[in-house]
Amino acid sequence: MNPLRDPQDRRLPRIPEPCALVIFGVTGDLARKKLLPGIYDLANRGLLPPGFVVLGFARRDWTDGDFEALAHDSAKDYARTPWREEVWARLAGNIKFVGGSFDDDAAFDRLSTCLDDLRHSHGIHGNAAFYFSIPPSAFPQVLKQLARTGMADNERCGGWRRVVVEKPFGYDLPSAKALNDLVDDVFTRDDVFRIDHYLGKETVQNIMALRFANNLFEPLWNSKYVDSAQITMAEDVGIGTRAGFYDATGAARDVVQNHLLQLLALVTMEEPTSFDAAEIRAEKLKVLRAISLPTDVAAGTVRGQYLRGWVAGQRAVGYLEEPNVPEDSTTETYVAIRLGIQNRRWAGVPFYLRAGKRLPRRVTEVAVMFKTAPHLPFNRTDVEMLSSNQLVIRVQPDEGVVLKFGAKVPGTTMEVRDIAMDFQYGEAFTEASPEAYERLVLDVLIGDRTLFPDAAEVEQSWRVIDPLEEAWQGVRPESYRAGEWGPRAADEMLAREGRSWRRA
Ligand code: BG6
Repeated sequence: MNPLRDPQDRRLPRIPEPCALVIFGVTGDLARKKLLPGIYDLANRGLLPPGFVVLGFARRDWTDGDFEALAHDSAKDYARTPWREEVWARLAGNIKFVGGSFDDDAAFDRLSTCLDDLRHSHGIHGNAAFYFSIPPSAFPQVLKQLARTGMADNERCGGWRRVVVEKPFGYDLPSAKALNDLVDDVFTRDDVFRIDHYLGKETVQNIMALRFANNLFEPLWNSKYVDSAQITMAEDVGIGTRAGFYDATGAARDVVQNHLLQLLALVTMEEPTSFDAAEIRAEKLKVLRAISLPTDVAAGTVRGQYLRGWVAGQRAVGYLEEPNVPEDSTTETYVAIRLGIQNRRWAGVPFYLRAGKRLPRRVTEVAVMFKTAPHLPFNRTDVEMLSSNQLVIRVQPDEGVVLKFGAKVPGTTMEVRDIAMDFQYGEAFTEASPEAYERLVLDVLIGDRTLFPDAAEVEQSWRVIDPLEEAWQGVRPESYRAGEWGPRAADEMLAREGRSWRRA
């Protein structure tokens, strides 16, 4: 061990041991737009070990060079950091490809031999992570192949073997459990990394810093001072070419079960005893277990589906007109849900979650709305422009935190109006934020599981979503025009409780 290096000091660059990253599904969008560019960014920041190898596996008759060309173009088009040929040249020599389908035993035998060879040629000591960037229906077959060839066996391989599983992790609780069992049969528990890419976002990690590194917010963070909270994930895009996946999934399964419930957990959980993966997961799980659903699902939730309209000056087709969407589809592209949390801190505080496609703009934020002051010693007209205090965590874009409170308008009268105190990442720090996938791939290779939900969290989140899905069966979603903030029923849902959605 380096005597000058304090093992507790996490500010020092964390660099993985020499290893290989095997990507299944290299030709898909995720690999091309996120993983391969993320790997380049890590290399550019000097965070990859010298012996690092990227191994692509797909049903293509490709040479290493063909895959390297795809990786090069993907990285060049989508990398976050500036392009440097010399960085690519170093990576390019370590990009390999094995062609074959998932039922092709010989192809997996070749993959296994290739990893064995890399042990000596690149000094990877048997270390490899397998990234499943493939549809969940293909998981069982690939897992079976990894088990059959012994590729998942840490002992046989003389190093670590990890698996990275992309969401959606199951379709409901029974399928998630079946999938967890399947993965656990092949890999040891600590070697399974389930991706929820929201946890890789700097602004999402900052929720814990904001809450647990400061003394300012904690005394107010409870039902005595908080009136309600709104978690919004709005996207201006439609479903693109993903009809096959999306129509069978819908907004609640696609983003609420994972991203929004994870945000909710981070905002409402108790302080972990340390910043250790197991401690954080334990607190998140506890609060996920305390979630209560609306007693009347029809009154406490709204589902919507977009009609044709205009988004940011561009014409947009309706959901039912999107390519490959069945004309009678009842899949929701918008959902709003009112949840409660049954514990001492939060009883009685409503948490409104909403997510939708083809909304006016892309914005993800958590807004904590505080109760109004119990007494205002002003004339009514002086405070007409004053609303309640709000703390808004802007996840994206314009990453930062805004605190809204009242201040006196300069002049001879005592008029008080809302103003905003604004922290922006772009202004406060010189370092640009890494992409979520950049951070998460690095953590997989290092073996740091802090930002990965475990099986219990995933299953608990399905316990929240499943009863809602069941109640929605056969119910047609409300309509909203592309470019509107969802169906009118969502506004009515809050209006019934004397509240309104924040203009995100
Ligand atoms: C994915 C969903 O998990 O998140 C997509 O499957 C969605 O439907 C995407 O578009 C949004 O991610 P981000 O990071 O752009 O907010």
